[in-house]
Amino acid sequence: MLQLDKVTRRFGTKVAVDNVTIEVPEGQMVGVIGASGAGKSTLLRMINRLIDTTEGEIAFAGTNVSTLKGQKLRNWQRDCAMIFQQFNLVQRLDVVSNVLHGMLNGRSTLATVFNVWPRQDIERAVEILERLGVAENAAKRAEALSGGQQQRVAIARALMQQPKVILADEPIASLDPRNAQIVMQALRDINRDDGITVITNLHTLDTARTYCERIIGMQAGKVVFDGGPDELTEAAARDIYGADGLAEAFSEATTSTSLGLPQRPRKPASELEAMPA
Ligand SMILES: Nc1ncnc2c1ncn2[C@@H]1O[C@H](COP(=O)(O)OP(=O)(O)OP(=O)(O)O)[C@@H](O)[C@H]1O
Ligand SMILES: [Mg+2]
Repeated sequence: MLQLDKVTRRFGTKVAVDNVTIEVPEGQMVGVIGASGAGKSTLLRMINRLIDTTEGEIAFAGTNVSTLKGQKLRNWQRDCAMIFQQFNLVQRLDVVSNVLHGMLNGRSTLATVFNVWPRQDIERAVEILERLGVAENAAKRAEALSGGQQQRVAIARALMQQPKVILADEPIASLDPRNAQIVMQALRDINRDDGITVITNLHTLDTARTYCERIIGMQAGKVVFDGGPDELTEAAARDIYGADGLAEAFSEATTSTSLGLPQRPRKPASELEAMPA
């Protein structure tokens, strides 16, 4: 169980995340949605301790992670792997080495610098790449892969560190619909098959609805919706995005995972009730 208790983050006078209290049981697949600036990335970054909380407490399995230091902090950061919109691979390094770098916390600096890895680790990295359908690229440099392939390598790197939680910050925002679908499917498979908790920020509503069992909607740093995909009514979406943002949230943006549908024209909010769930 991951627990956020009255968590707030300020940047100067700006309140990026405002008094958020949520509990995420182990194994849940959660989508965090909200307009630009709502606080989604700040929320994930605080969980992983890329940034500190200003107030409140974050606990995992009963341990307060907001105050961890040194090795214990590094252990926590290994337990909750981050996936980013821009993949964050080492572009000039081969794919399998990128995946092996997921184990950095458990290795000596020297072995890492010389890029020497135990055979069993290399085999495990290749197995994970196979599972994600990108093993044929294992020897290529990361830069030679498409965006969708690179994101799957980033997921493989995350799995290599045997995380308990995967935090994904708009993992499909740079991908075309087909690759977006493959990447979301991979995250869902990992969630279901391995029981790893997945918390992912997403830009479009339809993706959150399709892949996530729970959706948290943020607006100006606050949680304004927390429920299942079926509960995400137009009124709830209006609370999250505001009337002006609604049409964009529903539109078939490039980040959408809706495939096979003709590109829908952007609709005014008044017509959105007619949209399929
Ligand atoms: N390092 C920072 N310094 C100052 N302000 C910041 C910083 N990081 C975030 N903010 C502010 O905090 C608020 C929330 O930002 P955040 O990046 O969490 O939003 P978001 O929901 O992830 O937005 P997007 O959809 O654009 O990624 C914004 O107003 C942003 O400008
Ligand atoms: Mg963000």
